Formats: sequence, structure tokens, C-alpha cells
Amino acid sequence: KVPAGMEPDELKNREEVIRAADCLRQGGLVAFPTETVYGLGAIATSEQAVAQIFAAKGRPSDNPLIIHIGDKDQLSHWVSELPDVAGKLVRSFWPGPLTLVLPHQGNIAANVTAGLDTVAVRMPSHPVALALLQLAGEPVAAPSANRSGRPSPTEAAHVWHDLAGRLDILLDGGETGVGVESTVVDVTGEIPVLLRPGGITVEALTRAVGHVEIDAGLKQEESVPRSPGMKYRHYAPQAEMWLVEGQEEHVLARIRELGADAMRRGRKVGILTTEEHADKFHADVVIPCGRRSDPLSVARGLYQALRTFDARGVDFILAEAFPEKGIFYSVMNRLRKAADGKVIRV
Ligand code: TXA
Ligand code: MG
Repeated sequence: KVPAGMEPDELKNREEVIRAADCLRQGGLVAFPTETVYGLGAIATSEQAVAQIFAAKGRPSDNPLIIHIGDKDQLSHWVSELPDVAGKLVRSFWPGPLTLVLPHQGNIAANVTAGLDTVAVRMPSHPVALALLQLAGEPVAAPSANRSGRPSPTEAAHVWHDLAGRLDILLDGGETGVGVESTVVDVTGEIPVLLRPGGITVEALTRAVGHVEIDAGLKQEESVPRSPGMKYRHYAPQAEMWLVEGQEEHVLARIRELGADAMRRGRKVGILTTEEHADKFHADVVIPCGRRSDPLSVARGLYQALRTFDARGVDFILAEAFPEKGIFYSVMNRLRKAADGKVIRV
């Protein structure tokens, strides 16, 4: 495995990256590591190549894809306007886990944008992704490299589990670092609008540009989401999942109670918790996804934990909620979706 953080020149598998870039240029499907999650890429100017992404993932065609570039200067070849606020965000956060929605020039394949007049663009910071994108020369459309609806892959084995036989090349870059997807911000208007919380926090965005609006679809799950992808059940393990929210001691007590209850009813119970609380539970499978005192570790371990419940045949999951600040806001967004909105407040 190539450790993340290694410079492109030092990559032992540089040849593999070159082969992968050739494969992309020829219209193939390449899974590659980014600093957030693994992506399933195809060249973004070929409708045919992009169509294979939707087929491999089982993804609805009305959910548009992010295009990835290896160089900030490429932006002007594909978007038709770059408002000041977008330029500011690019300077502050690229390369990195931030995706910007901008008006496009019409030279990207129509199935990338699902027919919208905007395109989502990001420049990732992972050295393997950057090397691949620079060698490919053109933007690469890439959603997360999981079957649609499943938790996003944070290591090559997850990609293999979901997509073996459905892609041409899988580049193994070890574990990704951030663990949740990029933050998606619509910068087509004067005030940036957060469409999906992710690796860059709302607090960091606000520090950089002053004010960020939260999309109504994020604030009220019942209103129509503006990011088309947000309407599908996502990031979900196979088990029935409940998120338990409230004051810490009450949450722990309720999880213990509900867990014991479910086990008596013959369910195989999983508890999604943190290092701090793991020894307070007895259930079939207890997984700490990180440390509560280190929110980044929780984001990093989240999807791996959800996949482990599936691998161990758990059919009922109880998950601790987190205070919705910083990266925990993004974690909670994913947990709500994984639980399909099933929240217990205590
Ligand atoms: O971290 C990430 O963003 C990963 C890695 C591989 O880069 N990619 C990823 O892609 O998460 P995907 O396809 O799973 O999520 C893309 C999100 C969806 O919520 C989609 O609806 C939204 O971006 N999106 C794409 N194009 C859009 C557009 N033109 N307007 C609004 N939202 C858009
Ligand atoms: Mg995804």
C-alpha cells in the first residue's frame, strides 16, 4: 500500500498511476483514493465513459457527479463564471475537500451534470489523485466508489467489496484521511450556500468568506433538497439503524435499554459508539468509530464502522449522536441519512 502523504514522484506505483491515466483517456473506469473517500472515475468529457459510472454504481441518472481537476488553472476551461467568493474559496481550500457548484460552459458530458446548467468541481489534495488527474489532463467525473446507497469506501478493500468486476483499475492508496466526503457549496449567487456538509467545516468556510447560508433542504429534511443527491437514502448499512440524541448520560442509558430489549427479541444488535464509551455497552457488536475528544477521528472511522456492522451480520444498530459543531455536523448529516431519519430524542 502506498501511504497517503507520499509525494507523487516517490510513488512506488507511479507506473500504475500512468496506466490508470491512460485507461481514463481511453474511456475506462478507474477507482482512486482521494483525501475524503475513494472515487470511481471516468473522463468527464465522454458521455459513454461517464455512463459506465452510473451503471457500475447502480446510481440514479438524475444525481449529478463532481468533476475533479489536478490544477486550479483548469477551472476556467470548464466554468463560465468565477464569482469573487468562489475565487476566495479556491484560494483558501484547494487542493482539499471542498466542492464548488458553478455555471458550466457546456463542454462537459451532459450526463455528468444530469442536464443542469451548473457543474460541481473540486481539486483533491491526495497525492495519488493529483498525479492521476494531472496525467489524465482532462477533468475526471467521480462519485464515491461504492454501490449506490452504501457507505462510501475509505479503503481499497471497500471498493473491491462493492465493485469488483465492474471497473478496469483500482488504485490502492491505503486508508483515506478525512473519512467523509467533500463539502459542497453552491457559489452561483452572491452568498455561498452549503448543499452538503463535509470535510471542510461551516466554521472554516465562514472564517474565509464571512457568511454562508445553509440550504433549506439541510435544515428541514421535509423541504425539497437543492443538491439532487441529498434526497436518496445514503451511507446506509443493511441493518435497521436508530440514532439516539440528547444529554450524554441519558443517551447511554437509553441505548443500553433499547439494546438489551432488542437482543431479547432475538435481534443481532450493534452499537456505534466512541472510545470513551465503548466499555459501557454489552451487545453483539460494539464499535467505537473514534474518540469523542478527537472529532476528526470519528469522521475518519465512521464508514468503516458502518461496513463492519454489515460484515458481522448485525441487523439492528443503535448509534450515539454528536453535538452538531465542526466536523461533527458533517458526521451527524451522514448518521441521519444512514438511519434514514430515525432519531430518538431523550
Ligand atoms: O469527497 C467527495 O466529494 C467524493 C470524492 C470521490 O471526491 N465524491 C462524492 O461524490 O462524494 P458523490 O457523487 O457521492 O456526491 C456528489 C454530490 C451529490 O450530493 C450531488 O447531488 C452533488 O454533489 N452535486 C453534483 N453536481 C451538482 C450540481 N450541479 N448542483 C448541485 N449539487 C451537485
Ligand atoms: Mg456518494
